[in-house]
Amino acid sequence: MSLINISRAYDQGVAEYDSSMRSDHWMRRMIWRQCKHAFKAGDHILDLGCGTGIDSYHLLKQGMKVTALDASKAMLESHKKKYHGGENIEFQQGDLTQLEGLPNDHFDGVVSSFAALNTVDDWPQWQRQVNAILKPKAQIVFHMLNAGDIWQDSERRQQTEREIAINGQPVRHYFHNANQLYHDILAENFNLKYSCQFSFLLPYAKRYRLPSWINLALGELENLIGRLSNFEQTGRFVLMRLQKRD
Ligand SMILES: C[S@@+](CC[C@H](N)C(=O)[O-])C[C@H]1O[C@@H](n2cnc3c(N)ncnc32)[C@H](O)[C@@H]1O
Repeated sequence: MSLINISRAYDQGVAEYDSSMRSDHWMRRMIWRQCKHAFKAGDHILDLGCGTGIDSYHLLKQGMKVTALDASKAMLESHKKKYHGGENIEFQQGDLTQLEGLPNDHFDGVVSSFAALNTVDDWPQWQRQVNAILKPKAQIVFHMLNAGDIWQDSERRQQTEREIAINGQPVRHYFHNANQLYHDILAENFNLKYSCQFSFLLPYAKRYRLPSWINLALGELENLIGRLSNFEQTGRFVLMRLQKRD
């Protein structure tokens, strides 16, 4: 995993980033619903791969304190410009796979959305680091690309890693069967509170062009059936909520 590639890729796309995410707002609502279950006003939340701060800002508006971490200087600058001046936010340019510089037993929660965690190449290490910085009973809400997107060909579905071109820059991404990831690695320190596949009822490229109300309705349906074990390996994305044990 090269942090330079990541920051270069996202630095270049910052101007269009927010508008490119609008068609995914239906999925963002699902992420925020899980945040509502996990976090409360006054909590200190770490937003990993915060980008331009769409989630950070949402959490700030709910009365939380946020540490926003990202590799991309330009993404952080855009985030700061929008939400500058508040005492409840601090920014860190850094690597979300190397969290040992953060204080132990400190955060009430972690959020990470839209594939930032697909750059994690060592999940056992990541799991131990996140466990260390969280308080007991703290929750993690994470959303990332899934290994099993049924709309991709079978070769792609088998791949556990590949380079994805982001703004023309190759960035290595790692893919997992989310439930296996939980049972093999995350279950050591966390209880699973919620796991759901998203974006499987239609190919993502079609989904992208649908009116937002149709995507919202399809998202609600996926929120029901995407949790069933029959749909375990179907979604382009997976959304999970975990709670640290005492
Ligand atoms: C697709 S964007 C998602 C941004 C934001 N979470 C959102 O939902 O809009 C992925 C972000 O994760 C950051 N990122 C990816 N891998 C990272 C890493 N290993 N360390 C720090 N930031 C990373 C990128 O710089 C980028 O801003």
